[in-house]
Amino acid sequence: MSYSPLRVSDVSPDPPLRRLGSAVHLFDAIPSTNTFLMDGIGDLPDGSVALAEIQTAGRGRLGRRWETPRGAAVLMSVLLMEDEASRLRANATMLAAVAACEALANVTDCDVRIRWPNDLKIGRKKLGGILAESRRAPQDKSTERPQWGVVIGIGLNCLQQARGFPPALAEKATSLAIESGSAPDRAGIVQALLARIDTWLTCDASAHEPWAQLHAAWRGWFGELGEHIEIEHGGHAFAGTVYDVVEGGDLILELDTGGRRQFDAATTTRKW
Ligand code: BTN
Repeated sequence: MSYSPLRVSDVSPDPPLRRLGSAVHLFDAIPSTNTFLMDGIGDLPDGSVALAEIQTAGRGRLGRRWETPRGAAVLMSVLLMEDEASRLRANATMLAAVAACEALANVTDCDVRIRWPNDLKIGRKKLGGILAESRRAPQDKSTERPQWGVVIGIGLNCLQQARGFPPALAEKATSLAIESGSAPDRAGIVQALLARIDTWLTCDASAHEPWAQLHAAWRGWFGELGEHIEIEHGGHAFAGTVYDVVEGGDLILELDTGGRRQFDAATTTRKW
């Protein structure tokens, strides 16, 4: 598969954004852009961005691997330094999902929707995923309040063709190239993603409850309200109709067996 390598000048925000992109680290190959930024918490500045053409130890949710051919995807992580009380830690996946749907609506002709809890999909197929992680920054004596590093990683399938996916994924995964019939501009997608994430991060907190606003936007992009799904939680299988997703990301399912139950986004797995 041929691809045009990303260049720092093409992915650095122009004009500069309010919070993201003061430092952009672009790697040909790296174990994981999320791991790079997680390891850099305390050393790297707020708003640092890491991008790679290929990850040798790319990580997905719940310890799964995330693998894409060299140059085929957008593999991007951002680092945000937050106060301990910040609600970003609980809402980072939602923020990234909304920003990704908005960005892809702006720069592609694909109808990308959110699949609970952390996937991006087109139709019934997975286009990408989000991995948000955080840890407390090492505290130096001059810092009064503890700081947390929040890392948001996004992987988006861009240039893969149907035959390029491993057999186990062929029925479940798609790419922007497959859906639109032409090669997407990965640098343009990175720029659009950074711009939308930055807008949500810096939106005027005094105007409206920003997290409620984000939740409302998330529900607007959610593609599964009223759909019948199957999940696994605590070693048990559950099936039901999606009733809602609450602020912070937990799912409310109307169980086939009767009644409604709330499921934790961090520990519930989906059957495809
Ligand atoms: C998932 O689908 O479970 C989440 C996948 C997240 C993949 C992205 S690619 C960039 C960043 N670095 C990683 O190691 N993972 C995330």
